Amino acid sequence: MWVFLNDTFVESDKAVVSVFDHGFLYGDGIYETLRAYGGRVFMLQQHLARLHRSGHLIGLKFPLPDKDWPSLVKESMSRNRLHDAYIRITVSRGEGDIGLDPGLCRRPTVVILAQPLTPYPPHLFHEGVSLAVVQVRRNLPAALPPQIKSLNFLNNILAKQEALQAGAFDGIMLNATGDLTECTASNLFFVQHGCLCTPSIECGILDGITRSVVLMLAQQNGIAVEEGSYPAAALRQADECFLTNTTMEIMPVREVDRTSIGDGRPGPLTLKLRDLFHSHLARFLE
Ligand code: PDD
Repeated sequence: MWVFLNDTFVESDKAVVSVFDHGFLYGDGIYETLRAYGGRVFMLQQHLARLHRSGHLIGLKFPLPDKDWPSLVKESMSRNRLHDAYIRITVSRGEGDIGLDPGLCRRPTVVILAQPLTPYPPHLFHEGVSLAVVQVRRNLPAALPPQIKSLNFLNNILAKQEALQAGAFDGIMLNATGDLTECTASNLFFVQHGCLCTPSIECGILDGITRSVVLMLAQQNGIAVEEGSYPAAALRQADECFLTNTTMEIMPVREVDRTSIGDGRPGPLTLKLRDLFHSHLARFLE
């Protein structure tokens, strides 16, 4: 497998990063996960824009010109003869002496990995997944803004660990005031009385790119949409619930804290949005 590392493509066994890299030492860096369908990347410009926003928010200057990124992502796929691919771009602060000062690092480390996509098992889409509301709270935006897609993922890992221990597929994190935010690597939607509801950005979530596509498709197809603050109890009254992210697209949720959502099967709006997502997918590929 070919991996882009800093300024060139190398074989995966040569794709090695220093133990002094501040990404390794401190989780000081950012990343993006992208997905390609038939060699075309889903929402490529939006992912690159978010990567740059994350970089800007941590004061990281990219060592590559903006115009090079789309072609490097595509070359990562073509070199590995990939069509349906999982792509991860990682940019860390780079190698430097021990210490928190970002100035210790001369140059950010850039890695672009492209590998065959491992799809989620189809039965999850048919049956829906089980979620647990976890005790671990989502990072306080004033401490570590969820808008930074940071390499420091411990907040989400602790939540995932707790959810797995509870026998759930994933955990729903609440914010400091006890309102719903998102899952550990996906955004949360639910349906109540025909209205598609999702926690607003102000609740302290990552503004997911799949989330924005789903909201747009809903609005364009006459589905009522609401972004707001919701207590965890709102899910008990929900008729449907689903998750979104780049790799899972739209994933139905069958139960939360062992209580069924609706009749426990993917609901009509969830299925409609999945259909719309697939029938409009080509619009979002580059
Ligand atoms: N996760 N919320 C969080 C905390 C995420 O990490 C992600 C993405 C999302 C969904 O964003 P998008 O629709 O842009 O993929 C929401 C990716 C898949 C990951 O961490 O690999």
